[in-house]
Amino acid sequence: MLVSAKEMLNKAREGKYAVGQFNINNLEWTKAILLTAQEQNSPVILGVSEGAGKYMCGYKTVVGMVNGMLEELGITVPVALHLDHGSYDGAKACIEAGFSSVMFDGSHYPIEENIEKTKELVAECEKLGLSIEAEVGSIGGEEDGVIGAGECADPDECKAIADLGVTMLAAGIGNIHGKYPENWAGLSFETLAAVKEKVGDMPLVLHGGTGIPEDMIKKAISLGVAKINVNTECQLAFQEATRKYIEEGKDQQGKGFDPRKLLAPGFEAIKETVKEKMELFGSIGKA
Ligand code: 13P
Repeated sequence: MLVSAKEMLNKAREGKYAVGQFNINNLEWTKAILLTAQEQNSPVILGVSEGAGKYMCGYKTVVGMVNGMLEELGITVPVALHLDHGSYDGAKACIEAGFSSVMFDGSHYPIEENIEKTKELVAECEKLGLSIEAEVGSIGGEEDGVIGAGECADPDECKAIADLGVTMLAAGIGNIHGKYPENWAGLSFETLAAVKEKVGDMPLVLHGGTGIPEDMIKKAISLGVAKINVNTECQLAFQEATRKYIEEGKDQQGKGFDPRKLLAPGFEAIKETVKEKMELFGSIGKA
């Protein structure tokens, strides 16, 4: 059964580790992440962007697929199904469809509007026992066509949003989605510490997990980050393994064209990436 992310994140914050949110795109992605979480006895959050939700034929299809897998693969570790960077309407649709967690990303609205909309969604999630993530200070990079510059959040605005009763808070600290450019200045730990000081026990979320050096990940966890989002890195691992399979001509040998064979190296590569991240985040054995 899907669970809210609240308990797993509070435990992570207290135990000084982080739970990974891994974004899903299809059946192979979902199965690879769920099996790895089970094998590593780790809690896990499946992230679904609005674009990926559309690609997978809508949120109801996603909920059906994930619930079916939990049962048929015998997954017993805590799993949350979470909308990533949701709009107000997207969050409502996911709540309706049976997600156990949503993110409402109102970071592009003026703070008053972000507060107003977040507040409404907090009330809905509370009624149903779902977790909700809010965002202050937009995360840089491009995601689903939305480009942000990698802002540093205002700690007072973070407090105003945290006080609405959200489960976890994503605060921009110079992080960006996708690969980091050569001249990236790194995470702003001053911002992170200032946000933490204002929001107290609230589990913090680090977006843009791909390509952040290990020492920065560890320092971020020590400063209150309890959830780390990874997307691009699984995509790159899948791409590299699939490219190798085809370049080696394996798709042309025997039944190598069978999609179950063609997609197998990419599937294994996602499993390996997820395992490495769980090791780095410290969530192994914490289910
Ligand atoms: P990356 O694609 O950089 O790993 O970021 C993922 C993310 O933050 C999803 O919200």
